[in-house]
Amino acid sequence: MKLLKRRSKTQDGIVLHTASDFEGMRKAGHVAAQILDDLCERVVPGVTTAALDRFVVSRIRAHKVKSATIGYRGYRHATCISVNYVACHGIPGSYRLVPGDIVNIDVTIIRDGWHGDSSRMYVVGKPKEADLRLIQVTHDALFRGLEQIRPGRTFGDLGSAVEAHVKKHHMAVVKIFSGHGLGRKFHQKPNVVHFGQPNEGPVFVEGMFFTVEPIVSLGDTEIIFRADRWTAVTKDRSRTAQFEHTVGVTRDGMEIFTLSPTDRFHPTNYQLPVQV
Ligand code: MF3
Ligand code: CO
Ligand code: CO
Repeated sequence: MKLLKRRSKTQDGIVLHTASDFEGMRKAGHVAAQILDDLCERVVPGVTTAALDRFVVSRIRAHKVKSATIGYRGYRHATCISVNYVACHGIPGSYRLVPGDIVNIDVTIIRDGWHGDSSRMYVVGKPKEADLRLIQVTHDALFRGLEQIRPGRTFGDLGSAVEAHVKKHHMAVVKIFSGHGLGRKFHQKPNVVHFGQPNEGPVFVEGMFFTVEPIVSLGDTEIIFRADRWTAVTKDRSRTAQFEHTVGVTRDGMEIFTLSPTDRFHPTNYQLPVQV
């Protein structure tokens, strides 16, 4: 594991964290992942997205952690809940889920000053074949990207691996949204794009913390914002999916801080009985 004693920065200004910083991120990521697990049984027909957000607020209190999004740039909720053609930053409200909806829930918490940021897809009732394929391809594209992370490789290697997987399945990456560095701060350097060329961009260095969070569309990727100025939707109303993990670069690879403790990150797993 990480042997840096002191926090430092790369020439590009990306923070390099210490072994004890990894410990902080592990704990924060674990809480975010547990909360996303707890949502699995609750994303059902008839529930409003506001009720799901209230549930997350109550879990955040129970864990004695803080929401990173409440009060962030004027945002007032503990989750972003993005249904169907909402690409991201959907605001929880009076909408009631119906069978066939595909839903991304994104939670960021702060534990002892460290940020844990993760999102995943939930399906309501029985999903359409095409939607399941979208969810599968997006999930796998995230992991193709994560597999590239190790000291010496580059952010371009990550981005090109994500994009190649998506294109192979005749889908498209929504390029205007990216992952981000995080740690003591919610959004910091580097900007993590989910496209690009191998060997380009900054090199991964042990101690970097960031998210990988590709959004994939079944159709066009042009995005417009609703009047609330948060909700990002595809202009042609194509359905989208997104998965997000928070990771740290280790000596010989990376560590995912937001792994599901009950292995329910992927929606084909979450309706299965939980093995204890
Ligand atoms: N959690 C989102 C991300 O992945 C950011 C949400 S910011 C908010 O970066 F203000 F919209 F909540
Ligand atoms: Co994020
Ligand atoms: Co997020």
